[in-house]
Amino acid sequence: MDVERGSREYKPDDPESESLLSSNEQRPKRTTEVPYAPHSCYSKPQFGFNHLLIAFVTGTLACFLCQYAICGSSCFTYRKPDTETPSVVPTEVQALASPWAGSTERHNFPPATPTNAFPSMFPTNVGYAGGTPTGAEPAVVATAPSYPIHAGAAVLVTPDSFTHAKGKKYDLFKKWGNLSPWYSVDRTAFGLDSGPETPETCRVTGLHFLHRHGARYPTAYASYGGPANFSGRLNAIASKWTASGDLAFMNEWTYKLGEEVLTPFGRQQLFDLGISTRLKYGFLLKNFTESNTIPVFRTESQDRMLASAMNFAIGFFGYPFEGQYQQSITIEAAGFNNTLAPYKTCPNANIRSISDRGRDYVARWASIYLKKALKRLQPQMVGYDLTIEDVYVLQQLCPYETVALGYSKFCELFTEEEWDGFDYSLDLFFWYNSGHGYALARTQGIGYVQELVARLTHTPIATHNSSTNGTLDDNPITFPLGQSLYVDATHEVVVLNILAALNLTTLAAQGPLPADHIPKHRSFKVSELAPFATNVQFQLLECTSQPGPQIRIIVNDGVVPLTGIEGCPEQKDGMCPVETFVRAEKKIIGETDWEWDCHGEWEIPEGWETTTGQPPKRET
Ligand SMILES: *[C@@H]1O[C@H](CO)[C@@H](O)[C@H](O)[C@H]1NC(C)=O
Ligand SMILES: *[C@@H]1O[C@H](CO)[C@@H](O)[C@H](O)[C@H]1NC(C)=O
Ligand SMILES: *[C@@H]1O[C@H](CO)[C@@H](O)[C@H](O)[C@H]1NC(C)=O
Ligand SMILES: *[C@@H]1O[C@H](CO)[C@@H](O)[C@H](O)[C@H]1NC(C)=O
Ligand SMILES: *[C@@H]1O[C@H](CO)[C@@H](O)[C@H](O)[C@H]1NC(C)=O
Ligand SMILES: *[C@@H]1O[C@H](CO)[C@@H](O)[C@H](O)[C@H]1NC(C)=O
Repeated sequence: MDVERGSREYKPDDPESESLLSSNEQRPKRTTEVPYAPHSCYSKPQFGFNHLLIAFVTGTLACFLCQYAICGSSCFTYRKPDTETPSVVPTEVQALASPWAGSTERHNFPPATPTNAFPSMFPTNVGYAGGTPTGAEPAVVATAPSYPIHAGAAVLVTPDSFTHAKGKKYDLFKKWGNLSPWYSVDRTAFGLDSGPETPETCRVTGLHFLHRHGARYPTAYASYGGPANFSGRLNAIASKWTASGDLAFMNEWTYKLGEEVLTPFGRQQLFDLGISTRLKYGFLLKNFTESNTIPVFRTESQDRMLASAMNFAIGFFGYPFEGQYQQSITIEAAGFNNTLAPYKTCPNANIRSISDRGRDYVARWASIYLKKALKRLQPQMVGYDLTIEDVYVLQQLCPYETVALGYSKFCELFTEEEWDGFDYSLDLFFWYNSGHGYALARTQGIGYVQELVARLTHTPIATHNSSTNGTLDDNPITFPLGQSLYVDATHEVVVLNILAALNLTTLAAQGPLPADHIPKHRSFKVSELAPFATNVQFQLLECTSQPGPQIRIIVNDGVVPLTGIEGCPEQKDGMCPVETFVRAEKKIIGETDWEWDCHGEWEIPEGWETTTGQPPKRET
């Protein structure tokens, strides 16, 4: 046991964390204490209520001007990746030029002190807005004959080899696990022939919306693979190797990816998600007007989380959104109670032997599905011995470059079969590190489930004995109950924790995932459950055909059966009475022992598995 304890230094200190993605303790942490620039702009009383609706007149341009006018260049300085001391200007420019070994090309925009910046000559409010009357709220989920499907990513380029494939189209973007851009899954993906549109005889009365941030650069630390590390090693011996054939482009290639923050495409994903949510559910705002309140949305302090929430808000409310809602920014840092970043609250989540079992599975699987690729690629790279892990990184570079730069030459290096293998490697990783196969999935997800129950029952949480934060959750201003619309932003690992904690056992129907082949029928697919901007709708309904208020859970537009939840009936549209749902979730909360799970001295026995995201039974 002591030996196991020895591995305590594993710290998924980043959220995406234990993903191929946690962050690295040695790297300078980006500060989160500095107020996010756009937010500090909007929170100045710069715009009166009358100005709130001039969005299209003033336009997005003014937003940037606002940042500049109020914060000066320091806003922008803060936005630079890899900056430890954001508001100090000249000295850090050096640091930015070579923040870490893996970086081979950087464009440090914007310059720290541009010579032509005269904010006072660019007033942000010049008046003359023209007419600003608004109309009625849209309600696509209730009014349209069909539901809008989210497909593809128009601004990203797929390599020719995939767009022109013979016969059936192979959708490469759906083969990237948690690095896929979110898409509407097949209508029957989770086993029900139903869609998000309002079922007959029903009306939608509320929505609890949980989403992930948009596409980002690689995280600083990777437990397997990791593009920055590989490119750093290549760089270090750049004079010793030469590439040819399919890899010839690498002779000229430079590593252009930053770290952690949203990419331009990631920004668009959240902006679009905000717009589509408004179109589908805008009518829920009527409820706020009637009760003379505004919504509270939540996100975390981390840069990409906050930027995602801001982009969502601009999409949902339009510019400027000041005065239309309140943004709760919870602190994501070690030791803080945070249901949207529970690994920061739970010490045992930092033990590698508990929380990074996925790495081993991915390594085993990669050595099988990438064997041929290694054989094929090695002769084209003279002077550098590729490992299986290196070849895996070449694969990772395809999604990472595509979502950051719009296109990647690495995509065409691999066959469809190898992309299926890559997709599955991420299923393996997240099954064991975050989802139903992870010993702390339920424990980590339980705080959000407690909050969901509190909101559904309009009853504050009685005891704060998980990741919940009593200071925020016991205050009806920061954590309102009984509203018709909630929006929470988090990480894919937390979405997977929550899906497991809710006891959505149909998603785990195939049992533990094997490392030696792709199971024919698998219900747990990360590209469907936790891609970039993944979103979960907890939809509340009232129906003349069903007794009492109903709830259903819709993941990326696919309706998830609730039949694994005690008492929930088999219902064709996936509905369960709220009362039944709440009773079962309360039982799960009662069965969860945060103290033991997060602070107890336990380990995972050889050969032990879970499909409900629970740790080994406590010895009595
Ligand atoms: C790559 O990772 C290895 C092992 O984790 C580490 O020793 C090495 O310094 C890293 N190299 C770069 C260039 O980041
Ligand atoms: C708003 O919605 C909630 C939840 O559906 C409901 O309890 C409340 O009565 C509604 N308020 C108004 C003013 O319609
Ligand atoms: C709860 O959240 C508040 C606001 O972010 C924070 O100041 C406080 O430290 C948190 N409490 C705990 C116990 O983490
Ligand atoms: C934070 O979480 C711990 C562990 O569950 C709990 O004991 C404590 O009361 C919580 N603090 C707050 C302010 O909620
Ligand atoms: C949770 O799922 C397990 C496995 O399917 C089931 O046995 C149990 O009854 C469920 N519990 C609740 C409270 O839904
Ligand atoms: C919190 O405390 C309650 C009451 O003692 C208990 O039933 C529940 O299991 C605990 N929850 C967690 C998450 O530990």
